[in-house]
Amino acid sequence: MATATEQATIATPEVRQTKILINGEWRDAVSGKTFQTINPATEELIAEVAEGDEADIDLAVKAARKAFESGPWATMDARDRGRLIHRLADLIEENFDELSALETLDNGKPIADARAADLPLVIDCLRYYAGWADKIQGDTIPIRGNFLCYTRREPLGVCGQIIPWNFPMLMTAWKWGPALAAGCTIVMKPAEQTPLTCLRMGELAMEAGIPPGVINIVPGYGPTAGASLVKHPDVDKIAFTGEHLTAQRIMADAAMTLKRLTFELGGKSPNVVFADADIDAAVAGAEFGLFFNQGQCCCAGSRVFVEESIKEQFVDRIVERAAARKVGNPFDTSTMQGPQVDQDQFDKIMSYIEKGKSGGAACVTGGNRVGDKGYFIEPTIFDNVTDDMDIATNEIFGPVMSILSFKDLDEIIERSNSTFYGLAAAVWTRDIGKAHQYANAVKAGTVWVNCYDVFDAGAPFGGFKMSGIGRELGAAALNNYTELKTVTVSLD
Ligand code: NAI
Ligand code: MG
Repeated sequence: MATATEQATIATPEVRQTKILINGEWRDAVSGKTFQTINPATEELIAEVAEGDEADIDLAVKAARKAFESGPWATMDARDRGRLIHRLADLIEENFDELSALETLDNGKPIADARAADLPLVIDCLRYYAGWADKIQGDTIPIRGNFLCYTRREPLGVCGQIIPWNFPMLMTAWKWGPALAAGCTIVMKPAEQTPLTCLRMGELAMEAGIPPGVINIVPGYGPTAGASLVKHPDVDKIAFTGEHLTAQRIMADAAMTLKRLTFELGGKSPNVVFADADIDAAVAGAEFGLFFNQGQCCCAGSRVFVEESIKEQFVDRIVERAAARKVGNPFDTSTMQGPQVDQDQFDKIMSYIEKGKSGGAACVTGGNRVGDKGYFIEPTIFDNVTDDMDIATNEIFGPVMSILSFKDLDEIIERSNSTFYGLAAAVWTRDIGKAHQYANAVKAGTVWVNCYDVFDAGAPFGGFKMSGIGRELGAAALNNYTELKTVTVSLD
């Protein structure tokens, strides 16, 4: 007889697509090479995936250029473009079980999270942008003289999109949604750790009737496939999500062709808890804000600043919650934390934990590997962290929380801002004035007040300072995918 745990375990999905998508056709790499995608929960091989490089990127860019300049996409009414994006969202919804399980297989995230967060946000994002397709419009401008002056918002062209592995489907949707709504064509390079759901979304895009060449997908590595896309002279724009060091490389590589660039990068986001906060909510928000997705979130609330007078109480409660988090098989529906995505990330996080211990912070829970197979790490909390410690300044991108204490608003504003990052921030207080003073003063693209990680397709997201350039989501993201043209007509 099956135990309760076994009954709540979701079956491993079938892998249906491992090839390169160019011009509506699934093909092997020109080189014939493949790379392995690994199950991070077991360290076992999931599948061999076609490994694209410069030659495949070039074919994909040619297909995307042709689809952009001619063919059905170039002349399609905007409203019909919107219908195709809606159809893709519908197909993703129809394949919800398979796609969420595939995301869990390739990335390691708990199936409960894939089903509650990733998939619904993907579907919502595509529907949101489907609605924009026929609402991207220009202005008429009352210039001096006898002229008619108007602007057109034209699709930017062939867009290279390079995404990371932490939210493989969601990052795909954030990139495809506004690009398709604007009428652009796409060459996407998914992360080498997690190519499978993006490829499956490519299949569904073809099934939805999105014309060949509009979406091309070239799985492969960053320095080969990624860099070729960045350097390709016929690519108009690169949208990138990942590490700031990679963005610096991309910016340099894109300089020769002056590509448009948008970047969504990392963070060391402050999560600030005042003594007058609803402590239950703040503790739960700090847990979610850091440990969600194994801590692999660009906006993770990794610097938890707690007002001195409540710090001890706060630490006791967050430690209790962290220690109670269920870590294990991501296909078990009650699992809260799965493995880190790969060996590199696992090693990086473990080295930060060592730095935290040797640097004088107090490891109050966790700090160890879980088991001996799969990249599992205990939910870890460091207390008595100071601003200059490695764990307080660097993005760890894992289940490691740093707790720091503070005394007043001016001090915490300054300390929140003393980082080259500026992606997100949160503040917990019942004092509305204090909340807004903090929200105004913190240098971050997103500020959450008495909540954390509230995302919506309509709400712009992106970074100040070295956390990014430009904004994704919302109407703001459409600017990333359009060129503004001014037309002036003599009325004489
Ligand atoms: P990465 O930035 O190197 O990789 C992200 C994407 O960029 C992948 O598709 C990769 O193949 C591609 N890429 C890498 N080098 C490239 C190049 N020279 N030209 C073009 N594309 C290139 O991130 P990685 O190495 O996976 O993770 C390193 C650290 O970055 C993490 O530990 C974390 O701190 C941070 N990170 C931040 C993310 C975010 O959402 N802001 C997401 C993933 C990682
Ligand atoms: Mg890298």
